[in-house]
Amino acid sequence: MKILVVNGPNLNLLGDREKENYGEVTLESINADLRALASEMGVEIDFFQSNTEGELVDKLQSAKGNFDGIIINPAAYTHTSIALRDALLAIKVPAVEVHLSNIHAREEFRKTSYTAPVCIGQIAGFKKDSYLLALRAIVNYLR
Ligand code: DQA
Repeated sequence: MKILVVNGPNLNLLGDREKENYGEVTLESINADLRALASEMGVEIDFFQSNTEGELVDKLQSAKGNFDGIIINPAAYTHTSIALRDALLAIKVPAVEVHLSNIHAREEFRKTSYTAPVCIGQIAGFKKDSYLLALRAIVNYLR
């Protein structure tokens, strides 16, 4: 089983950026924890981060046939991107949306997700544990 983890804009700045919302951990350390959990669960895992909407669309398109499941934090594109939603719909690879912060407890504009309705589900508010919970969720869903 192969899982792809996709992170959107500004998530490369984790550890330094808005620590009150996103915690102190870096994306590298989240990915290291995910890699360890994936190996414990006996699944393959790969990672992609981009600040560019089109690159995220291209990566999702290339996931079709190459990955069994997706964990995606579209970051700010969650609230704006019909293109990412359409890409998820087109490829039909099961996906879990994750957020470090509880987007439903923040500004009004963050409460809308264009991508969550085309995912299996959404996990938000557990900081880096959102990703680890999402890995358990997608693997259990696929098994
Ligand atoms: C985020 C929430 C988004 O609203 C924000 O734009 C982000 C991070 C989160 O993980 O909590 O960049 O996706």
